[in-house]
Amino acid sequence: MTNKLDLLEQKKAEALLGGGQKRIDAQHKKGKLTARERIHFLLDEGSFEEIGMLVQHRSNDFGLDKEKYLGDGVVTGYGNINGRLVYVFSQDFTVFGGSLSETHAEKICKIMDLAMKNGAPVIGLNDSGGARIQEGVVSLGGYADIFYRNVRSSGVIPQFSAIMGPCAGGAVYSPAITDFILMVENTSYMFVTGPNVVKTVTHEEVTSEELGGAITHSSKSGVTHFACANEIEAINHIKSLLSYVPQNCEEDAPSLPYEAGNELRPELNAIIPENANQPYDIREVIEKVIDENSFLEVHKLFAENIVVGFARLAGKSIGIVANQPAVLAGVLDIHSSTKAARFVRFCDCFNIPLLVFEDVPGFLPGTDQEWNAIITNGAKLLYAFSEATVPRITVITRKAYGGAYDVMNSKHIGADMNYAWPTAEIAVMGAKGAAEIIFKNEINAAENKADKWKEKEAEYQEMFANPYRAAERGFIDEVIKPEETRLKLIKAFKMLENKVDKLPKKKHGNIPL
Ligand code: HXC
Repeated sequence: MTNKLDLLEQKKAEALLGGGQKRIDAQHKKGKLTARERIHFLLDEGSFEEIGMLVQHRSNDFGLDKEKYLGDGVVTGYGNINGRLVYVFSQDFTVFGGSLSETHAEKICKIMDLAMKNGAPVIGLNDSGGARIQEGVVSLGGYADIFYRNVRSSGVIPQFSAIMGPCAGGAVYSPAITDFILMVENTSYMFVTGPNVVKTVTHEEVTSEELGGAITHSSKSGVTHFACANEIEAINHIKSLLSYVPQNCEEDAPSLPYEAGNELRPELNAIIPENANQPYDIREVIEKVIDENSFLEVHKLFAENIVVGFARLAGKSIGIVANQPAVLAGVLDIHSSTKAARFVRFCDCFNIPLLVFEDVPGFLPGTDQEWNAIITNGAKLLYAFSEATVPRITVITRKAYGGAYDVMNSKHIGADMNYAWPTAEIAVMGAKGAAEIIFKNEINAAENKADKWKEKEAEYQEMFANPYRAAERGFIDEVIKPEETRLKLIKAFKMLENKVDKLPKKKHGNIPL
């Protein structure tokens, strides 16, 4: 027996070393943690249970039969984060560069299947040279097995991907399907084809970091939701994200204890500038309405003309979508529409109520937008809100113009409660443009055209640049003082707590893609 126990211990010790101490040292030298260290920092102490520690690859080609490592380049299992069950895979770069073999893929699929059956999130820590080149098509098959499970799991259990090293070629499509991607600055990159291929094909000279680093993907492409300064920050972000979301689509997100207090926020009364064209930061409104320091902004550096993120209101998790007047006047364009649509759909998948702050002058005009399909992309946001069955509340702080009024969670597309501040302007378009069109003849006939235009602009402004026309119709449920916003929202979300709304029976909708 002693011998047998010794053998087990020996095998475990071997597996813990991955590709060996030399390669572990090389990993550290690059400023990266090992696969096991990452899991150690991610999970509650002592909670990790490993699955498949002794798995080995089955390939005999190119001398691989002589090079085998226990675990085969990925550490998989389950554990807890703040007491909640999660499934984890963490690719081990010290074994064949974390490359994905048939057995490596099988290990990942096994925990994905367990996660689905048991209704718990999956967290993937990616650090891989891609397909195990020596294995050929079985490796590609392994990727497809993972992609398939990513898609099947989408909307059932939350899926998070942290990119902590290379992630290239078709490998990028697993993270791309998951709900949130986090990247580490300077040590991670994602691209379909790397700098060498780019140079050959397009003659562009570009570094890995420029082409597909954390800053590129968090600000230019929007592929990643979070750029993190280091691996520990990324791991802490995952934990924080998890605190706002439920285990699966059948459950609600965890709440924090909350004691009612004075919910009035008089500072909000002075937040909208006198001049309607002057910007202000919508984050200030958000911060004053939600529970203190509870905002976790998502996609912070991408399409900054819209702000999205998680927060808590009276201890409960909510998703916030807010036009940002401080950037491009808060206009809706292609990127802001897709950013917000994706976030709305995540919240709706996982029973997270939605709160919208609206101050939008309309959709961005121009050939760039039209030729790149603002029509299709703007429709994504309209579709996402219209389809969402979670409690939905809108607060119009200032402008709600044109089609953007409809799109931004209006009453007409199913919002449950629509509030407006007295500073709201709800109209087809701004007064200046409106006067020019509808009073064209009168203005042209006038002796002093500029004065007439101003007079007519003021007339239109007086009539429509307020919330009362919409309130008369019931499109706005209540015009509230800004200071009351938090109180009203707490009450309204409480009132909507048991909302039941079902989509018509269908196979699935056909969102404009
Ligand atoms: C097998 C691999 C490997 C791979 C790296 N290694 N990538 N082994 N298959 N894909 C091994 C190396 O041989 C080396 O082994 C060890 O991992 C570390 O690699 P290094 O090159 O020394 O590390 P580094 O300098 O940091 O470079 C990392 C790297 C580079 C940029 C990832 O290794 C690289 O370019 N690898 C190939 C990437 C690639 O072309 N992958 C296939 C992409 S196509 P030793 O024994 O020296 O430690 C693809 C298709 C997926 O993935 C399709 C899905 C649908």
